[in-house]
Amino acid sequence: MSKALKDKYTLTHLRQARESGRKVAMLTCYDYTMARLMHDAGVPCILVGDSAAGVILGHPNTLPVPLSFMIEITAAVRRGAPLAFLVGDMPFGSYQASIAQGVKNVCQMVQQSGCDCVKLEVTSHHLPLVESLAAAGVAVMGHIGLRPQAVGLMGGYKTQGKSADEACEIVALALQLQNAGAAALLLEAVPPEIAKSVVEMTNVPVIGCGAGPDCHGCVIVTHDGLGLTPTRPRFVPKLADLAEPMKGAFAKYVEDVTSASYPAGEHNYSMPAAELAEFRKKLVIRFGP
Ligand code: KIV
Repeated sequence: MSKALKDKYTLTHLRQARESGRKVAMLTCYDYTMARLMHDAGVPCILVGDSAAGVILGHPNTLPVPLSFMIEITAAVRRGAPLAFLVGDMPFGSYQASIAQGVKNVCQMVQQSGCDCVKLEVTSHHLPLVESLAAAGVAVMGHIGLRPQAVGLMGGYKTQGKSADEACEIVALALQLQNAGAAALLLEAVPPEIAKSVVEMTNVPVIGCGAGPDCHGCVIVTHDGLGLTPTRPRFVPKLADLAEPMKGAFAKYVEDVTSASYPAGEHNYSMPAAELAEFRKKLVIRFGP
């Protein structure tokens, strides 16, 4: 039986999952073809993350990826997975300059990509922006804990909230975001005890990314789970090992073309015999024997 979603998955379903305790799966996706597969597999929530900067574009961090690119790929994923709860990621530089800049760019993301929610990596500095977006009717997912866009300031990609003070700050920020109108939270790279406190002390759905078992849902970078990236972070489950079969397929293609075993008869387009005979005659008339 098909596992594909039959109805649109919305924020209401995410909130219901929070209440019922049913865990929610979210995967990253960056293109139409993969989105179609996720649709067929019944993936309810998809994040078009700025991790595309590394996974798709080969950058060493998420900072260089522009808003126009994020909108383009989010719209492609929307076309492939029309029923999923789709989260568009606001890239570095698209909302840091001012509230006006953030609101304008978020509206552009929502209008042009068809996403259901936008994710922003936030500190307390961004609370007025979250408030303005919520007032404008936008579902905002506040990304806290490890914020890859702040890699420079954080001095690398490190687990966050390892000291009691830092942990309290994360919980306080989660509450502030909720009060500012954030519709959901994404908690990245924190010890499970902190995630549990955030879950217990807030009333919005919390998606964990390396945050233990107590969040209402989990997200991973799909390519990590599929074994397509060079290293798999420890919190990512091994869903498949697609790198070797894909490399094998590419090598086989090279071999088949090089050895002229491809293309074979079954790969050729055909032409009516009479037209072919006529074509041969015309060739001789026009270009000589
Ligand atoms: O950009 C992204 O894919 C993310 C996830 C790693 C949470 O933010």
